[in-house]
Amino acid sequence: MRKIAKELRRVVTEGRIICIVCDDTLINGKKYPVVADLTKIYIEEGFIYRDKIIWIKPEGYIRISRRSGVILQHPYPMYFYPDNIQETILIFQNGKFDYKRIPKELKERSKIDVKEYQQNKWYLTTWNIINVLPLKNRIEEGIAAFPEEIPYRLIKLFSYVGEIVLDPFMGSGTTNKVAAMLGRNSVGYEIDLELCEVVKEKMGLKQSSLFEKNYKVEIIIREDAKHLRTYLQEKIRRQKSVVKNAKRKTTGII
Ligand SMILES: C[S@@+](CC[C@H](N)C(=O)[O-])C[C@H]1O[C@@H](n2cnc3c(N)ncnc32)[C@H](O)[C@@H]1O
Repeated sequence: MRKIAKELRRVVTEGRIICIVCDDTLINGKKYPVVADLTKIYIEEGFIYRDKIIWIKPEGYIRISRRSGVILQHPYPMYFYPDNIQETILIFQNGKFDYKRIPKELKERSKIDVKEYQQNKWYLTTWNIINVLPLKNRIEEGIAAFPEEIPYRLIKLFSYVGEIVLDPFMGSGTTNKVAAMLGRNSVGYEIDLELCEVVKEKMGLKQSSLFEKNYKVEIIIREDAKHLRTYLQEKIRRQKSVVKNAKRKTTGII
C-alpha cells in the first residue's frame, strides 16, 4: 500500500485528489484496521487528509457473513459482533490546488448541478447508495465492483471536463466507463487479465449503441502481466506453506 501511495504522489497532479474506497477487513475472524492504516500511510507519504465519506449500503444488500447472529444464540454481554453495511471513501489531496488556474469557460462546462447535489444529499459525510452484488450472470460476477454512482459523484466533484482520471485498480472498469460518460479521459490498471473482456463489455465495445462512442479505447497487455496471476497464486501458496511450517514449529507438532 505504501508503494502505491508513493507512486500516486508522483503521478497525480499538484493539488489534485485521491479517493480510496476501502474498509476495515475481517480475515479468519480477525479484524484489520485498513482505514486507519491507509490514513496513516497517505499522510506519512505527504498527502493532505481532506475528508472521509461513509458509504452506507442498504441492509438487505450485505453479502458478508452475518456476525450479529452470534448474540441471538448467546444473548449475553461480550457476544456483540455488528454486521458491516458500510465502506469508507478516504479523500486525500496532493498539495495545494490553484483555483485560479482553471479557465472560466472550463469551469462553466464542468459545473456541478446544485439541484442534484442537494436532492441526493452529496453534501453529507454519509452517502446512502445501493451496492452492486457480484451475482452469477452479472457482468460484475465475482468482482468487488462499486456502483456507478460512487465514481459519478467523485469525478464530478473533483475533476474538470477533459482531464484524466486514474483507477490503478480498474476491476470491471466502472470508473473508466463513468469517466467517459462525463467527458473525462481515463487510465486504468488491472492485473487480472481475465477481466479484459468484462472491461470491454462495460465500456460498450461489444455493443454498438450503449452510449455515444465518440471516444477511443486502447488496451495494452503487458508481456510480463500474462503470467502474473499464476505468479501471485504461487507466491501466496508459498507464503501459506511458510506460515503452516512456522505454526507446526511453535506448537511442536512436527
Ligand atoms: C475492488 S476491485 C476494483 C473495482 C473497480 N474499481 C470497479 O468498480 O470496477 C479491485 C481490483 O484491483 C485489482 N488489483 C489488485 N492488485 C492490483 C495491482 N497490483 N495492480 C493492478 N490491479 C490490481 C484486482 O484484480 C481487482 O480487480
